[in-house]
Amino acid sequence: MASLISLRGLHFSYASGLDVLKGVDFELNAGDRVALTGSNGAGKSTLLRLINGLETPNSGEIHAFGAVRRQEKDFRDVRVRAGLVFQDPDDQLFCPTVAEDLAFGPLNLGKSSEEVGEIVGRTLELLRLEHLADRITHKLSGGQKRLVALATVMALEPEVLLLDEPTNDLDRDTKQHLISLLTELPQAMIIVSHNHHFLNRVATRQVELSDGVLMEQAA
Ligand SMILES: Nc1ncnc2c1ncn2[C@@H]1O[C@H](COP(=O)(O)OP(=O)(O)OP(=O)(O)O)[C@@H](O)[C@H]1O
Ligand SMILES: [Mg+2]
Repeated sequence: MASLISLRGLHFSYASGLDVLKGVDFELNAGDRVALTGSNGAGKSTLLRLINGLETPNSGEIHAFGAVRRQEKDFRDVRVRAGLVFQDPDDQLFCPTVAEDLAFGPLNLGKSSEEVGEIVGRTLELLRLEHLADRITHKLSGGQKRLVALATVMALEPEVLLLDEPTNDLDRDTKQHLISLLTELPQAMIIVSHNHHFLNRVATRQVELSDGVLMEQAA
């Protein structure tokens, strides 16, 4: 079976000269829920940004959904199909209200306002956020913002989820709800987290990024 995402010999340095990735190989297959671990500054967020084309590798190849992706135009499709939830929700949310933030992506994809209304309602319900629909996004609490950021990505119904520290700021019940939700979703996902209890419950595989390379961890 072909991989959904395949990284081959990926090298990446920031303009500052810092070498972050030094030959990363990775395959994401249908049904995988991969825990991506590694110490602070190891390059986990950078790796998710590369998959989405928000950074460009110095060398190596990114294959996604059956095609090699090199240029900005190749990644427009990848960004819709592999939804990235940023580590910092303030990087994700930019509309005045929660409902508008959720509607933005689907409207941009050309869906009708009726369809968008349905998607927004369904996604708010899935994440138990109905009560926040009309709230001003930038005045939400940290945990609320994180859930709304996840909701904006879920509203696009991506084939793959790239989740950067999804449990930060969440209370215990909400973390529990997120565990149930993620394990019931059909999508393949890469989950960056430092929360081992959460990863043990959700992930089917674990990889660790260390000194610029990815190592598969024993189950
Ligand atoms: N825009 C940038 N310009 C220059 N260096 C950067 C930039 N973003 C991140 N870095 C550096 O690249 C390295 C990898 O950062 P990254 O954010 O990918 O780490 P991380 O594994 O996600 O860490 P954390 O667990 O703290 O979120 C770090 O040393 C960081 O300081
Ligand atoms: Mg990070």
